[in-house]
Amino acid sequence: MLHLHSPTEANWIARALAAIPEILLDHAHCEKKAASTAMSMIFKYPDHPSLVLPLSELAREELVHFEEVLRHLARRSIAYRRQRPSPYAGKLMAIVRPTEPLRMIDTLLACAFIEARSCERMKLLASHLEDGELKALYKSLLASEARHHRLFVDLALSTKVLAARAIDQRIEEIAAHEAAVIVDAPSEPRLHN
Ligand SMILES: [Fe+2]
Ligand SMILES: [Fe+2]
Repeated sequence: MLHLHSPTEANWIARALAAIPEILLDHAHCEKKAASTAMSMIFKYPDHPSLVLPLSELAREELVHFEEVLRHLARRSIAYRRQRPSPYAGKLMAIVRPTEPLRMIDTLLACAFIEARSCERMKLLASHLEDGELKALYKSLLASEARHHRLFVDLALSTKVLAARAIDQRIEEIAAHEAAVIVDAPSEPRLHN
């Protein structure tokens, strides 16, 4: 399990529960973005065959999540529309080094942190939501996101670009950066604010 250096502050869940339509819409966009990031890595890294099949499976799984959230939106008559995204992912990715193959490793590890943070937030939603359907949704999704954050670390290791010890060290550096980004996030209700 990746260690998040900064646990979510206590008032996040209250803000999220007060704005469930916005959280659900943001969540739909996040699942779509997760699928798209996995797809774009398949295009970018054909010379790393250990990535291709797992990322393809991941992209499909994230699209299934996207569809599930879309159905929850529809059931609640919440329109799927554009929404200002959280700055979290963009700021997190600022730590990615520009030169390959380190860029690939950093992207995989930053994705691992996005999954770990999603998992932490979904756990909060699953335990605090009173709506039974949404509670069940977040319970099932947080299990997937827990698996995904481990998957991204395994994928980084599978490329053999860096030894396990160097990967661990980079995880620590990204953990410190991620903690700074999440603490600094705006208060608008989003999964990663
Ligand atoms: Fe997902
Ligand atoms: Fe995921």
